[in-house]
Amino acid sequence: MNNEIISLEEITQFQSPIEEFNPYAWYKHKLQNEPVSYNKATNTWNVFRYHDVKRVLSDHEHFSNVRKRTTISVGADNEEGQHMSKINLASDPPEHLKSRSLISAAFTPRSLRLWEPRIQEIINQLLHDIGNASVIDIVKDFAGALPTIVIADLLGVPSQDRLLFKGWVDDLFLPLPKNNAEDVNERKRHAAKEYYNYLYPHIVQKRLNLADDIISDLIRVEVDGDKLSDDEIVRTTMFILGAGIETTSHLLSSTFYSFLYDNDQIYAEVQANRELLPNTVEEMLRYRFNIAKMDRTVKKDNNLLGVELKIGDVVVAWMSAANMDEEVFEDPFTLSIHRHNNKKHLTFGNGPHFCLGAPLARLEANMGISMFMDRFPRIEPVPGFRLEDNLTPSAAGQTLTCLPVQVHR
Ligand code: HEM
Repeated sequence: MNNEIISLEEITQFQSPIEEFNPYAWYKHKLQNEPVSYNKATNTWNVFRYHDVKRVLSDHEHFSNVRKRTTISVGADNEEGQHMSKINLASDPPEHLKSRSLISAAFTPRSLRLWEPRIQEIINQLLHDIGNASVIDIVKDFAGALPTIVIADLLGVPSQDRLLFKGWVDDLFLPLPKNNAEDVNERKRHAAKEYYNYLYPHIVQKRLNLADDIISDLIRVEVDGDKLSDDEIVRTTMFILGAGIETTSHLLSSTFYSFLYDNDQIYAEVQANRELLPNTVEEMLRYRFNIAKMDRTVKKDNNLLGVELKIGDVVVAWMSAANMDEEVFEDPFTLSIHRHNNKKHLTFGNGPHFCLGAPLARLEANMGISMFMDRFPRIEPVPGFRLEDNLTPSAAGQTLTCLPVQVHR
C-alpha cells in the first residue's frame, strides 16, 4: 500500500516559485522564531535547527524511517510503481543494515575508482557535443545530461536511451501538488509502467552476460540465501538510482546559477585555483541545495525536541534550513567558498541513512565542473534571462528547466 503524501505547499506557503528557489527569508524566520513548530494543516511537526535536524535523522530509536505518511512522493500507485523488494531502505536498524549493505556493494570506493574513467569519458563527450556554440543551455547540455548518462552507464543500459530515462525519473519523483494531484499521479503511473517495461528485458539479458555494472551487482547479491528476482531488481533500481539523477542534476545546475547570479567572482577564482573546487562544491551543497528535507515518524513518545511528541507523529527535518543555522555556520546566509566547516552541512542526511551516493555525486560535480572550466575559462550570463520563466517543481524543490550561459574559449 502506498503512503499518504503530505503536501509541502501547506507547510511552506511560498507565494511564488522564485520564493521557493530562494527560501532564505523563510529559513531565517523559522530558525529564529519557530525552530520546532506544529503545522496544523498537515498535522506535522517541523524542525529547522541544526542539532534538532541531526537528531531526528540519526536517532532511529525515537524517529523511524518506517512511515504511513510522508512528504516524499516517489514511485506511483500502480503495480509497476511500487517498491516491493527484499531490499527495503524504508526501514530502521537492524533490518535496515542488511538492505543497506546489499546496496552498498555497488557503491564502494573500489567501484568509484572503476567508474572514474567512465565518468571522464562521458564529460568529454558532452563537452565535445557542445561544439563551437557560444551560448549553451547548461541544464540540457550539461547538468541534466551528465548524471543521467552516468547512471544509465553504471546501470548498464544503453546511454542513447538517456532522455527516456530522464523523463521517467523526473516524473516518478514529482511532488504531488495540492491541486491537479490526479494529473501528476497519472504521469507517475505512466512513467513507472514505461520504465518497468523498458528495464525488465535488459535484466533478463544481463543475467546471461554479467558485467561490471550495478544491475549485474544486484543479480549477484544474496539476501539470506535468496537472490533478487528480475522484478525486484527493476523496482530497486527505480527507487535507488532515481535518487541519483534528479539530485545531482539539481546540484550542478544550481551551482552554475550561483556562478552567474549569486556571486560572479567565484568561477574566475576557482578557475585560477582548482584546489578551491572541492570546498566550492560543499558550499553549493550547503547554500544552494534548498528544500532538502526528510521526514520520520515518532517511534516512542518523547520530548527530545522540547515538545511532547507522540507515537505516530510525523516530524519533518529541514536540512537546508539547518545548513543556515548560525550556531554552526558563521554568517550563514552568505555564500563563501572559503568557509572552513561547510562539509558539516546536512544535505546528504546524517546517521544510518546517510546518502550512499554522496561520493558519486561529489565526484561527478568536481570532475564535471573542473573539466568544464578547462574547456571554458570564462562564462557570462545571457541578458534577458528571467528566472521565473525557467523553474519547475521537482522532488528537490524548484529546479531550473533552462539556464542559458555564454561560454568563452
Ligand atoms: C547532490 C546529490 C544527492 C543528494 C543531495 C542526496 C541526498 C540524500 C539524502 C538526504 C539521503 C538520506 C535520506 C534519509 O535520511 O532518509 C539520501 C539517501 C540515499 N541516497 Fe542520496 N543524494 C544525492 C545523490 C545520490 C546518488 C548519486 C545516489 C546513487 C546513485 C544516491 C543514492 C542514495 C541512496 C541509495 C540512499 C538511501 C540510503 C539509506 O536509506 O540507507 N544519492 N540521499
